[in-house]
Amino acid sequence: MTAIISQDIQHAVDLLRKGELVAIPTDTVYGLAADASCPAAVKKIYHVKGRPSNQPLIVHIYNVSMLTQWARQIPPITYVLAEHFWPGALTFILPKATQVNTVVTGGQDTIGLRCPNHPLALALLRQFGGGVAAPSANRFRHISPTKPKHVLREIGDKIALILDGGQCDIGIESTILDLTGVTPCIVRQGMISAKMIADVCQQDVVDKTHVADRPAAPGNLAVHYAPDTQAKLVSSTKLIQIINQHKQKIAVISRQQPMVTREDVVWLTMPDHPRDYAHHLYDTLRQADESGVDLILIEELPQQMAWAAITDRLTRAAQR
Ligand code: TXA
Ligand code: MG
Repeated sequence: MTAIISQDIQHAVDLLRKGELVAIPTDTVYGLAADASCPAAVKKIYHVKGRPSNQPLIVHIYNVSMLTQWARQIPPITYVLAEHFWPGALTFILPKATQVNTVVTGGQDTIGLRCPNHPLALALLRQFGGGVAAPSANRFRHISPTKPKHVLREIGDKIALILDGGQCDIGIESTILDLTGVTPCIVRQGMISAKMIADVCQQDVVDKTHVADRPAAPGNLAVHYAPDTQAKLVSSTKLIQIINQHKQKIAVISRQQPMVTREDVVWLTMPDHPRDYAHHLYDTLRQADESGVDLILIEELPQQMAWAAITDRLTRAAQR
């Protein structure tokens, strides 16, 4: 099987109704979608991704009124945040509704829920009517796809259809906010920061992304979002020295213009604004990975909150 790339929403809906998988665009990254209420379909996601079955999936819904079909004990703050950030790159962790099968929650009593801000994803969700389970459409631990051709390369031989929504706008995965405790906790960083959330809900928001004993979240595994080639994070001041020491072909991902003219240095210049950097990040990592080098050097980013989620992804990409 080789996936076709098209904008045929009806075809996607038909496949979902038959219990098949479809890759879908979202505002963050491409997702590998299945009917969330069909355990057999959801199991296919784990199989195709090579992902352990105890790692929960995010269920995508069309709007906030669907929350009660999937979650229970929903705190009022959920609605305040959804009103402000949905559709958008914010996932809530809530206690799952009693009837929800634990296949989709990785065996947990909680569930991840999000309404994505992408016209094709929203049209698909509306037409389908139910919840759609969708992790990022990449092999386990690999780089999330932000273009249809990335999905094709990752899992194109295992699915029938990739819904073509162009390049994803945001480019890194959603912020995940755990709302099951007294204080809202960030369990995966994204472009919606703790401060942005705290400003809206007028309440403290804790960042638990560096605490060891939080709920299982593959996005928090040390090695994740990783290219096949070894990647290394280096400071701006050491960059040129390390390039000069490396005698083989090398790729460099930097916000600066090329500093060397060596033909065996693949220099990939990145934008200097966090939003634009995130938008291009995974595509650029893939370019570096496919450029036939044995080392990817990534220049470190400023230690400011606006860059935190991107630094998080780079750190995991460079972990071995
Ligand atoms: O932007 C995104 O969130 C993308 C798009 C496709 O929506 N999806 C995505 O899914 O990144 P995935 O499966 O690659 O990552 C989902 C994250 C995982 O880290 C998972 O553990 C966490 O959500 N998650 C889901 N349900 C959870 C739960 N009940 N408790 C804790 N973490 C949960
Ligand atoms: Mg993922």
